[in-house]
Amino acid sequence: MIRKTLGIVCVVLISYGCHLKQKEVFDVDESLQYCVEQADQTISQIPDDEKSLPRNIAPESKEWNYVTYQDWTSGFWPGTLWYLYEYSQEPNLKEVADQFTQYLRPLSEKPATDHDLGFQVFNSFGNGYRLTGNAEYKKVILRTADTLATLYNPAVGTILSWPRPVPNMEWPNHNTIMDNMINLELLFWASKNGGDSSLYQIAVAHAETTMANHFRPDFTSYHVVVYDRETGERIKGVTHQGYSDESMWARGQAWAIYGYTMVYRETKDPKFLDFAQKVTRPYLDNLPEDFIPYWDFQAPNIPDEPRDASAAAVVASALLELAEYSDKALAKEYRDKAIAMLEELSSPRYCPEDGNPAFLRHSTGHYPNGSEIDYSIIYADYYYIEGLTRLKRIREGKKPV
Ligand code: GLY
Repeated sequence: MIRKTLGIVCVVLISYGCHLKQKEVFDVDESLQYCVEQADQTISQIPDDEKSLPRNIAPESKEWNYVTYQDWTSGFWPGTLWYLYEYSQEPNLKEVADQFTQYLRPLSEKPATDHDLGFQVFNSFGNGYRLTGNAEYKKVILRTADTLATLYNPAVGTILSWPRPVPNMEWPNHNTIMDNMINLELLFWASKNGGDSSLYQIAVAHAETTMANHFRPDFTSYHVVVYDRETGERIKGVTHQGYSDESMWARGQAWAIYGYTMVYRETKDPKFLDFAQKVTRPYLDNLPEDFIPYWDFQAPNIPDEPRDASAAAVVASALLELAEYSDKALAKEYRDKAIAMLEELSSPRYCPEDGNPAFLRHSTGHYPNGSEIDYSIIYADYYYIEGLTRLKRIREGKKPV
């Protein structure tokens, strides 16, 4: 792989008994440049129809399948473009990022149809506002936070994730999924930037209720918890996208690690830091040697099971932040492992070299449904570039977030 062989800019010497061993330092700029080049291909391929947003690429294909702003993944492509603009400072990328971000504006003007508004609007308009300070973006974010809050059920203490019947979930009871933790960032941000203070309280209540009900004694997570919508009583835990209700679905655990790290950042409440570290343990301790999980840690045919590069990207990005809040020994473990994850993702095993314009291959979307198995998926690309950006900031002596 040319970018791997040409880009080695730095060498460190590590003492190894009485020998000296050379170790290459992972070249984050080279990987970011690769992302710029891959994204360039995607930009040139997307239909110019003011609605198409890339979602996935099948294993043998080189063509994106597209969705509209209504899909839960719609914010990841504009968010990726904002990270690329942050890295390259290319005015053209800013324009393109804005163009795709605008596709999602209707989400701020319509009632909520599910909890994914944070993934959608905070990744697109949120990153855009962070980098440009555009007041119009801020209005969209604030309106969408209010929309998300309409799904909050005070009897339960969480946001309703899927306001519709889903198999095995006894609708019309209340369901909350682990992924929903990520959407709390939208509420925290809004509460601190002109929105109502109740948004902060909703986010904290959601995080606390989820902490109490979503985890097994070993700190592995159920994907979904079903609650009685009137009394708030916990009915059961379900792992809808995992191998079984009692297994550790890789991306679900990744959302927990990322989510509680972010909640600690926003609240500075030590119980959330402690919890983020606790949910990280079973994930790190049960990874394969190359640091990329199989789609479910209990999938029956490991090592002949598909991987989930998206979970690895989410966790790599989260660990670079969690390291900032952790004591020296844990910080070193988290940082070293995050870099190992990014390095493996940046290898030819995960980076397509065959004309597939995604950044990464080998993610698994919904295995039990038979969908997106061993695909390139846009959210893997988003968290990969976020992780690379965080690592670059750390190397420049800045805070990752
Ligand atoms: N939020 C859905 C997923 O992680 O697949």
